[in-house]
Formats: sequence, structure tokens, C-alpha cells
Amino acid sequence: MASLLSSAAASHETLPDSFVFPADERPPASSAAVELPVIDLSAPRDEVRRAVLEAGKELGFFQVVNHGVPEEALRDMDAACEEFFALPAEDKAAFYSEDANKPNRLFSGSVYRAGGGERYWRDCLRLACAAFPVDDATRGSWPAKPRRIRDAAERFLVATRALGMELLRLLCEGVGLRHDYFDGELSGGDVIVNVNHYPPCPDPARTLGLPPHCDRNLITLLRQGDVPGLQVAYRGGDWIDVRPVPGAFVVNFGHQLEARIRQSFSEYYGNACDIATNGLLKSVEHRAIPDATRPRTSVATFIMPTEDCLVAPAEELVAAAGEGPRYRAVTFRDFMEVYKAVGARRESVEKAFKI
Ligand code: OGA
Ligand code: NI
Repeated sequence: MASLLSSAAASHETLPDSFVFPADERPPASSAAVELPVIDLSAPRDEVRRAVLEAGKELGFFQVVNHGVPEEALRDMDAACEEFFALPAEDKAAFYSEDANKPNRLFSGSVYRAGGGERYWRDCLRLACAAFPVDDATRGSWPAKPRRIRDAAERFLVATRALGMELLRLLCEGVGLRHDYFDGELSGGDVIVNVNHYPPCPDPARTLGLPPHCDRNLITLLRQGDVPGLQVAYRGGDWIDVRPVPGAFVVNFGHQLEARIRQSFSEYYGNACDIATNGLLKSVEHRAIPDATRPRTSVATFIMPTEDCLVAPAEELVAAAGEGPRYRAVTFRDFMEVYKAVGARRESVEKAFKI
């Protein structure tokens, strides 16, 4: 418990050495203003489908508005999360755990280990849901305080999962897979909600909230909140700030989606396909930086495959290209073992699975 940042907020007048990363591991963000595309999901479907593919082609990250997650559900979740991190230390202690195998827990730092043993400037409340509709056992495994958090989390989780599944259907239609390709075991694992809490940091330029990483799952929906702090690697190079858009979700693709679609497209179709040449549906590295004066809370929903699900390119796409697969097929469980061992950087993960 001593390590929870949010329980010691008043004492952060200087950045403790344990949070200082070497300069080459925290290159400053670019001053270039690059805006993520903002897609209005209430537009006609073929327009939305085109916009999603276009955005994937451009950056691999985009924001969505008019996404169907009710405003009230967003506000309730924000309020419940704020109340949670403001609870007295002893209430939070009840949920605190350093056991990374626990699906529901409060912890500090990250499952991504830093090379020099440094600590990340982040507390995280992790909530998992294995089955829908959400049952009592699941709700019972979430924090009991504040009172509204279980209802808020359930509504948020159900609505963001539905949004994620809808985006997956749009992607399928766009790349020529049957629209329910990702239903079933590919998206049937736990849905995880990570509430990332970054207290004000006395020296944000010398530390990191989250290291550069690609998400390991299928698709991620991030509610960024009002305080900026998310940065993405623009075309694999400069770090750029993602400007918060009120009420929007930031959407990005995880390794699982890339393994299914992008590698099939870009590597098999090559230059023959306009989509592919720009790296459509790439899983893009991103990181989080705390703010100097304001606390920042972001809420990420991760849609994951089941543990036994095989991670491999879509057979339909491989067959269409007339070549063999270029990555070995592994179960999501094995993928996660490798992911944990080699770290979250895209290069090392890719290397580990190349045939
Ligand atoms: C994540 C993540 C970014 C943020 O939770 O995987 O990338 O802005 N979060 O908190
Ligand atoms: Ni992430």
C-alpha cells in the first residue's frame, strides 16, 4: 500500500529518484500539431466504414464521437472513479494487490517492467468481466466503495464493449471479412477496464506514466478525460500529443487485430493494395505522461480473445493471397507469456512470432 501514489499525493513535492527514467527512454514529444481523425459514428454507415479504414491507414489511432455510449454512463463512471481514488487509504487497501494474476485489483506502476527497475507514475484500478450479461459474482469481485462504482462500471463496460464490437464489424466489412468474424472466441475473453490514475507530478518531463507499448488485445477504447497525457508514435517516429475531444473515445488496435488483419493485408497484398501500403490496422505504440498540476484519469476498455484462442492471420485473407502464414500461430495464453517476457515494444513482439 505504501507504494500507491494516490494515497501520498500531498507529499509529492519533488520527483523521487525511483521514478526518474534515463533521458533516452523518454524522448520529449514533438511540438508538431498532428490531429487524430475524429469520426462521427452517426454518419451513414459506408461513410463511417471508409473513415475508419482511412484513419487506420493514416495513423492507426482515431477518436470517435456520437458513439452511442450514453453521456450519463460516462459521467457516472468518471464520478465513481474519482471518488474511488479519493477514498481514505484504508478503503483502497482492501482492494490493493501486487499479484498480477488477480483479474480485479488496485495496484501502482505497470505490468510492463522497466529495464532499470524504475517505477511508473500511475495507479491503476483493474476490473474484469468474463461473461455477459454481468452476473452477481462478477459485480461482487469489484470494489464495494464508493457505492455507485459497481453500477457505473457495469453500464460503462457493457456499453463500451458494444461499441468495440460495432467497430470490429465495421472493420470486417471494410477489409472483406464476414462481419461477425470477431464474434465468438476472438473477442470472448475477459473484457478488462483499466482506470488509469496519474496524480499531479512534480517533474513530468523526467518520468513516464506508461511506457511506450502496443496493447496486447484486439481493440482498445480509451476515455481520455479532459487532461492531455496520451501520446502516440506518429508513423513510428515522433511522439505526438492526443488532444482530448470532450466525450470522445480514442480507439486503437492491439496486437491481436494486427495479427489477424494487417499482416495479412500489408505483407500478402503488398503494393497491389492501396490500403496495405500505408500499414492499415497497425497496432501503434503509445505512452502516457502525467500532468504537472492536475490529476489525470483515463479509462481504457480492452476487448480480448479467450485464453485458448489461436492467434493467427485470418485464413480467409491468407487463402486469398495464396501464400503461407508468416507468423506462427500460438494461443492467446502463450502469446501473453511471450508478451510479458519480451516486453511490450512492437519490434520485440513481432520478432518473437516471425516464422
Ligand atoms: C493503456 C493506455 C493511455 C492513457 O491503458 O493501455 O495506453 O492515456 N493508456 O492512459
Ligand atoms: Ni495502451
